[in-house]
Amino acid sequence: MMKYFTIAQITDLHVGRTITCPSGEVDLFDQLVKTVKHINNFDPPVDLVAVTGDLVNHGHLEDYNRVKRELDKLNAPYFIVVGNHDQRQTLRRVFHDHPYLAGDGEFIQYAIEDKPIRIIALDTLEPGTHFGLLCKTRLDWLKNKLKQQPDRPTLIFMHHPPFETGMPYPDSLGMHGKKEFGEIIAGCNQIEAIASGHTHRDSVVGWKGTIVYVTPSSSFSYALEFHDVDDLTPLMEPTAYRLLRWDPEVGLVSHLNYTDDYEYGLSEGVPEPPKN
Ligand SMILES: [Fe+2]
Ligand SMILES: [Fe+2]
Repeated sequence: MMKYFTIAQITDLHVGRTITCPSGEVDLFDQLVKTVKHINNFDPPVDLVAVTGDLVNHGHLEDYNRVKRELDKLNAPYFIVVGNHDQRQTLRRVFHDHPYLAGDGEFIQYAIEDKPIRIIALDTLEPGTHFGLLCKTRLDWLKNKLKQQPDRPTLIFMHHPPFETGMPYPDSLGMHGKKEFGEIIAGCNQIEAIASGHTHRDSVVGWKGTIVYVTPSSSFSYALEFHDVDDLTPLMEPTAYRLLRWDPEVGLVSHLNYTDDYEYGLSEGVPEPPKN
């Protein structure tokens, strides 16, 4: 069995949207192309890719088709978690070769059991709204899944963060059912981390005995606004994805990896000790 296992999490692709900036238009499909290339060039190869929601912006079939064609270029296998901009039926139709999308009942929730770390994907979509929801049906499913393997290290992926980030506007589009979800998480020892998206910004919190990551969008960010605002402001900060490196002897180590090209500086070598 391999010692390390690396998962790349990409989130909030929003293909179908173009963002107008003073310097010109940014087609978010181009951001996905850049991200897929970046992941494929990572050395050593990534083992698995998690795509955690908002694959498209408007739910259009042709945008899902474009996303699938691009994601299929990934060298590593990938799996999809549902976001508030997604449509369950269209996802199932376009990604017909992803049988787990059939879910377990109405919702697209599933466990991946054949990897060195157990993965559980949750469905926080509440159609017609941007806030998220974990209802009793979804929470009962989770409780049951966690009870089945209480000693196996587990990583949970979900689109909406389950905590208040301190950013009033994104928090107003946050997840309902946090308290009940938190009670389940607090009662389990095997959860190495929860990785989410949705706010398009990097945040991390220690929560209910585990750690929760919010991963920035691989397409575009929103301004970091702790004050009240009337709408979200797109911001073209450096885009990134999260690399989660599972080493059973160390734990789950998180690294943000930026997808734009940056200049390397020259190494200074090993400096001579100062003679002062
Ligand atoms: Fe999003
Ligand atoms: Fe979202």
